[in-house]
Parts: sequence; structure tokens; C-alpha cells
Amino acid sequence: MTESLTVRDNRTGQEYDVPISEGAIKAKDIGAIKADDDSPGLAIYDPGFVNTASCRSAVTFIDGEKGILEYRGYPIEQLAESSTFLEVAYLLINGALPSKAEYEQWVHDITYHTFVHENVKSFMEGFRYDAHPMGMLMASVGALSTFYPEAGVIGDADNRMIQIIRMIAKMPTLGAWSFRNAQGKPFVYPDNELSYTANFLSMLFKMSESRYEADERLVKALDTLFILHADHEQNCSANAVRSVGSSQVDPYSAVAAGIGALYGPLHGGANEAVLRMLRRIGSKSEIPAFIEGVKNGNEKLMGFGHRVYKNYDPRAKIIKKACDDVFDVTGVNPLLEIAQELEKIALEDDYFVSRKLYPNVDFYSGLIYEAFQFPPEMFTVLFAIGRTPGWLAQWLELTQDKEQKIARPKQIYTGDRGLDFTPRDQRWA
Ligand code: SDX
Repeated sequence: MTESLTVRDNRTGQEYDVPISEGAIKAKDIGAIKADDDSPGLAIYDPGFVNTASCRSAVTFIDGEKGILEYRGYPIEQLAESSTFLEVAYLLINGALPSKAEYEQWVHDITYHTFVHENVKSFMEGFRYDAHPMGMLMASVGALSTFYPEAGVIGDADNRMIQIIRMIAKMPTLGAWSFRNAQGKPFVYPDNELSYTANFLSMLFKMSESRYEADERLVKALDTLFILHADHEQNCSANAVRSVGSSQVDPYSAVAAGIGALYGPLHGGANEAVLRMLRRIGSKSEIPAFIEGVKNGNEKLMGFGHRVYKNYDPRAKIIKKACDDVFDVTGVNPLLEIAQELEKIALEDDYFVSRKLYPNVDFYSGLIYEAFQFPPEMFTVLFAIGRTPGWLAQWLELTQDKEQKIARPKQIYTGDRGLDFTPRDQRWA
């Protein structure tokens, strides 16, 4: 069986052999198909890139039908069970698990880059008390590009790596300070004696005590949540990072674009939307009416559905289990019962079954975050902290991919053509 298509253009009767490679055909081969020498070649029209591969990548593998997720070939279930977020970050960035020496150096480097310039602190203090933390995070990450102007030299491997270390290290500091600003509380500086995730909790919740001691079970649960969010191949925000990064801008500006994409309710903002949805439903008795509203198209069942997973999101399964560990410490979130009943009803209802809508990573994560006493507007900040190594692994791969070019899609033009301009005084006479 030859790995190719034979395409016949019925406008000209000409046939074209289009090679198939790695499960895809190249758009440029379709571009060679023309009605005549003066016409442009055919383009591929694919809103939302539902069936378009933008790159070749070795970072993350997803099988949506089978509910499989692997980072650099390692199943998410094994990493969530036995790894740490910083080890997973090293794996995503470097493509292999670290040796003991490599891991210790990596943890040291990240630990000692958690501080930000004092001007970033005063910049963040300038936001209103009710500024959404995601808006603050996006702005402050973008602002970091002005503190490290050398970050734009993306062709230098050592320079790329120091910016990657800085961003992974500083994201929790910026995330925590976005939270403290909304709370009207003083910003807490990083405590380099603490682990990455314990330090994040300290910067969030420390008050007058000399050292904030988080419950180890909560530290482990949050570290696992960061692992589950660390990457997800070419999702909307990774695509934003790659698209902006393709102009060869610095990685802070590219990641700021990714944060902007993640902010949206259809993407990372869904975890916040799920919590608000569950609060609005209020009780199990209200679920049937809510489901009817969704089926009538009034709104979406937030936390359900996925572009790739047409089966249960493997991360949702792990998070659902992590709920138990967290609730052992914090007490059960009363909204859990509503979420479980909602899931049960949806998974039996043909509207959702026929559309292959299952719980995704955002459906249960908000319940855990709320149990940590995070307000809903902080949930997507937690997602962004976890996703930072993934964004940077995708960006790093982009910078070294000889096939990549600046992102500049085509369009199908539907507007007017060749109109004559009438000056204002004539138009308005
Ligand atoms: C994340 O891409 C990633 O990998 C993202 C992510 C990551 O780790 O980076 O996994 C994180 O963003 C998870 C998704 C979080 N978003 C939500 O939970 C918001 C609710 N979900 C939907 O908006 C939706 O399912 C998307 C955005 C996630 C996927 O949308 P698609 O692939 O474009 O699918 P679609 O909108 O074309 O939906 C197909 C059908 C439509 O019905 P019909 O027009 O055919 O009648 O399913 C319906 C949709 O209306 N549908 C839903 C629904 N999701 C899809 N109906 C009700 N509730 C929903 N949640």
C-alpha cells in the first residue's frame, strides 16, 4: 500500500499524488493544486485547527479515544503517583528524567530564582484590590521581559535555559502575590528553605508566624495537581505560546500570551466556571433543571467535553482520587455531592453520551482548590503555575525546530472588493 493520496481535480481533470507521512499530508502539497496557472493554489480551511497539525513534537502524547496521556513517553498515572512537579518539569524541558546530581542542581537553581525585582512588587501593588489574579499574572510575566532584555537572544542555549529556570521559579511568587494583592495582605517573600510547592503555600497563606508549615498531605496533593497540569500538547494556550514565540520574541512575552489564552472560560478558566456553576446549581434537586438548560443550549456543562478526549480525561480520574486525600485534611467540600450527581446524570444522558462529553481536568480540580481556601478567581492561576514547564518545553522545541516558520495563516476573504472612497464632506453633504 503506497503511503499517498491520488487527488483528482475535477476542474482540470489533473491528478496529483500527495504523499502521506506520519498520519498527515502537507498543506503545501495541496497548495500545488490550481484551477489554472493564474489562480492561487488550494488552501485548507480549518477553523480552530480541529484537524490541523501545526508542528511535530516529542513532548506530550495524548490518545483521546483511549484516554491516554504521557509526558515524554511516561504515563501520567505513574508520574502523578511517584514523581514530583520539579522532576516532571525537568523531564518536560530536558526530555529525560534527571540523575540525582541533575535533579539536585535543578531544584537548587529554581529555588534560588524565586525572588523577583522589587519593582515588580511595586508594579503589582498598583493593581486595584479586585483585579483578577490572571490579569495580574499575565501582566507581570510580560513585564519580566523588561527586567531580562537579554531573554530576546533566543538563539543562545544557555540564555534560553536561564530564562526557563527563572520563569518556572518565579511563577509561584507572582501567582501568590496576585492572591495577596486581592486579599489586601502584605506580599510574602519566598522561603528558600521550603520545597517548591510548600514555598508557594507559604507565600499564599503565611501571616505573622515565623515559618508557615503546610500540612504535608496538602503539599503533596497540590504538587500532584501541578504535575497533572504540566503539559497537554497543542492546547489553546500552548498554541498561543508557539504562535507568539514563532516571531522570535522573548519567552516571557510568549508565555504571557499563553496565560492570556488559558484565562478564557473554554480553556483554563473552566475550573473557575465549574465552581461558580456548582454554587449556582446549589443542590442535587436543581440538577435536572440545569441539565435541561444545557440541552436547550442555554449554557455549557463546564468541566465537561474536550477537543481530544472522547473518553474520560485521565487527569480527571486522578484528581477525583486526590479529592479524598485533601478532604481527609480539610473536610469534604459540600459541592462534591452535587458534582458527583451531575457527573452520574450526564454520563447516562444521551445528549452528553452522543457528543462524547466526559469530565475533563477542570471538573473536579476546583473542588480541591476551594478546599484549600482558594477563591475561584485563583484556580486558573494554579493551572498556569502547573502549565509553565509545558509551555516552556513547547517553546524550547519551537526554537530548535528547523521546519518552523513565523505563524501566518491564510484566510478565505468574504468582504467587499475594489470600492471607491468618497471623502467625508461629500458623504455627509
Ligand atoms: C482545558 O485542549 C486542551 O488540551 C485543553 C486542556 C489542557 O490541559 O490544556 O485539556 C484544558 O481547557 C479543558 C477544557 C475546559 N473547558 C471546559 O470545560 C468548557 C466546557 N467545554 C466546552 O466548551 C468544549 O467541550 C471544549 C471547548 C472543551 C471543546 O470544544 P470543541 O472540541 O470545539 O467541541 P465543540 O464545541 O465543537 O462541541 C461539540 C458539541 C457541540 O454540540 P453541537 O453543536 O454538535 O450540538 O458538543 C457540545 C457543543 O455544543 N458541547 C457541550 C459541551 N462541550 C461541547 N455541550 C454542553 N456542555 C459542554 N461542556
